[in-house]
Amino acid sequence: HVASTLQETKHMIRDEEYADIDWNNLGYGIIKTDYIYKAKCTPNNTFEQGQVSDYENIELSPAAGVLNYGQGIFEGTKAFRGENGRILLFRPDQNAIRMQIGAERMCMQSPSFKQFVDAVKQTAIANKRWIPPPGKGSLYIRPLLIGSGPTLGVSPAPEYTFLVYASPVGNYFKEGTKPLNLYVNTESHRATSGGTGGVKSITNYAPVLKAISRAKEQGFSDVVYLDSVHKKYIEEASCSNIFLVKGNVISTPATIGTILEGITRKSIIDIARDLGYKVEERLVAVDELMEADEIFTTGTAVSVATVGSVTYNDRRVEYKTGDELVSQKLYKTLVGIQVGKTEDKFNWVVEI
Ligand code: COI
Repeated sequence: HVASTLQETKHMIRDEEYADIDWNNLGYGIIKTDYIYKAKCTPNNTFEQGQVSDYENIELSPAAGVLNYGQGIFEGTKAFRGENGRILLFRPDQNAIRMQIGAERMCMQSPSFKQFVDAVKQTAIANKRWIPPPGKGSLYIRPLLIGSGPTLGVSPAPEYTFLVYASPVGNYFKEGTKPLNLYVNTESHRATSGGTGGVKSITNYAPVLKAISRAKEQGFSDVVYLDSVHKKYIEEASCSNIFLVKGNVISTPATIGTILEGITRKSIIDIARDLGYKVEERLVAVDELMEADEIFTTGTAVSVATVGSVTYNDRRVEYKTGDELVSQKLYKTLVGIQVGKTEDKFNWVVEI
């Protein structure tokens, strides 16, 4: 099975509406779906026309740039099943732009805006039977751009591969939608000024695994990182941006190169302003976190996650929880837009 265009892809979808899995217990593990999108290119060229084909392992040279020197970036976006079986994507254009910015930083060729968005649409449609029923989760779509060509010296790879695969997902955290217990890490940092913290480089993630593992061993859900210079300002959690609420004001760290410009982050800022909150993007000291009324984190994978407690230097602060929280209002509005139930006044949703 191979298809190059959205039209061709629509013709190869399997007949059954839903794959035969337990839709009530989706977590965040990888589930093998039917198809993957692939395209290649050599430096200074444009990517070949990509193809959706059967989902299989990929073959790489042991000397591939991505394996040896970490030349790789990725994106994350989701497809939702709305009412009447509509298939909806959320702001794939923003992922396309972010991949181009990341590719430039990591010295890689990037697919064009159109190729990126088409690839995401094709991958979602090809794997349609894996898009969960309404209310059960979403299809997480993972565009991945890697230096696939071999290079022994430290130099850009001589070939790039753009892949898009997908997996049905439920809640990111094992806690489900229960409030998270965050641990402020003072021993290591996620990013430094001039580094790659502001782009979705694969190299941003392995360095936080140790901190996450340690925090989980102690019963925490996730880790908050501090800036590496003053060790005083909060940056982000392991795979999500962080917000605090104090009265009618919502604050989040400004994206100054060390913090990922999350698409959920900026959508929540727009939604919050539209709902009448004042939103500030600025330096946020860790002490403010401890004085806030509410804390929440945002990301494609985590959506909007309410925080129940923050522990910093042996001090634990608990926050109010419940349905009346600002974070719950924002969460409901965001998900409502994503599944087509709430008016999409920002024009974010793309039906395929
Ligand atoms: C996403 O939210 O899409 C992410 O990138 C999180 C992922 C690292 C699990």
